[in-house]
Amino acid sequence: MEAALRAGKPVFWQNPHRRPVAELRADMSGLLADIREAAARFSRFAPLLADLFPELRPTGGVIESQLLPLPESVGAGGGREPVFLKADHLLPVAGSVKARGGFHAVLAVTERLAMDAGLLAGPDADHRLLGEARSRAFFAGHTLSVGSTGNLGLSIGILGRALGFAVTVHMSHDARAWKKEKLREAGATVVEHAEDYAAACATARALAAADPANHFIDDENSRDLFLGYAVAGLRLPAQLRPLGIVVSPERPLCLHLPCGVGGAPGGIALGARLALGDGALAVFVEPTEAPCLLLGLATGRHEAVSIKDMGLSGRTIADGLAVPRPSGLVCRLVAPMVDGVCTVTDAAMADHVAAAWKRAALRLEPSAAAGLAGPAMVRAAGLPRLAGRTPSHIVWGTGGGMLPDEAFEEILAMGEGRG
Ligand SMILES: Cc1ncc(COP(=O)(O)O)c(C=O)c1O
Repeated sequence: MEAALRAGKPVFWQNPHRRPVAELRADMSGLLADIREAAARFSRFAPLLADLFPELRPTGGVIESQLLPLPESVGAGGGREPVFLKADHLLPVAGSVKARGGFHAVLAVTERLAMDAGLLAGPDADHRLLGEARSRAFFAGHTLSVGSTGNLGLSIGILGRALGFAVTVHMSHDARAWKKEKLREAGATVVEHAEDYAAACATARALAAADPANHFIDDENSRDLFLGYAVAGLRLPAQLRPLGIVVSPERPLCLHLPCGVGGAPGGIALGARLALGDGALAVFVEPTEAPCLLLGLATGRHEAVSIKDMGLSGRTIADGLAVPRPSGLVCRLVAPMVDGVCTVTDAAMADHVAAAWKRAALRLEPSAAAGLAGPAMVRAAGLPRLAGRTPSHIVWGTGGGMLPDEAFEEILAMGEGRG
């Protein structure tokens, strides 16, 4: 495994520390209560969100995506198992999975500040008050800051600015130009770093520590981010029921989750396993050049590892996954929850972007298309839990809905002729 990882070849690591949900429930009861509270927070803010963003009016401010069946030629990787795409690339407002964690983190800061300042009498007060001039003037005196490879910054920039906050986004060298432009259009300050993601985060963290009115949303260490993603897992059973998908250890459901620092896949995996039990399997998918979570979990060294220790560059077309170190908080929470972590090459991601577009008219960015490699990798890995069983699969389409035409065409050209 180590030689293949160093050589940038695709690998599948099976997690020997995975434990049955029944053993974890007692330890996780506090966390489950916090995930439910995050879901309640989204509900409290829904009327305000519907006021702020006209596209949310049809759902009354609820931000959710559909589960779409995928044609065999896109996700099944030569197999016959049913594959669905969780269309988070079409999540309103932010166009990526970051509309879950990123938005929740912003809403948690907003609610806390508003209650401390007496703008909200309590959590059950009408949150639409926070859209009024008095509240906006108050938020204008506060800054939200974040380090981002792109999509997290976009989610925090768009929502933060809509609420009236000043927003500063520190972006690593991997961040795409169009994401920076969209942020500037929203009125956020974009600080461009010549270094990688971990370095951009470190600078942002240090600057925020020196200013009490600067609230740093720490992607490498944020429970609020994690909780926002986890809400998606809790909502899965209600989405599976109408599709006739019943999950049990005999009828397993495999989730394929693109992974950067681990917050998005970790939160979703944990929420899904708590909601669906041991029939839910979680597989994280990372670029061959940036398998930070695989290294963190496989070595048990969590955030103390870096992909650079393996001589890997971190350079990948999957900008959202171009991360050298995993989140330690996530590693500790998900170590018993994950079934495996696999890696995928840039060439394969480009192929999957092209195939998803040509055969299913899906506009995915490479980070999101990474998950499409999962079903075939799982089959080849021969997980004991799946022996003699036919799993269903959900590939989490984590982003791409906002890709401008030129950026999308550039990516398509990389997979051209092969998709
Ligand atoms: C499109 C997309 N997918 C997946 C991820 C991974 O999320 P995380 O870094 O929380 O693991 C990101 C992160 O930015 C992303 O932008």
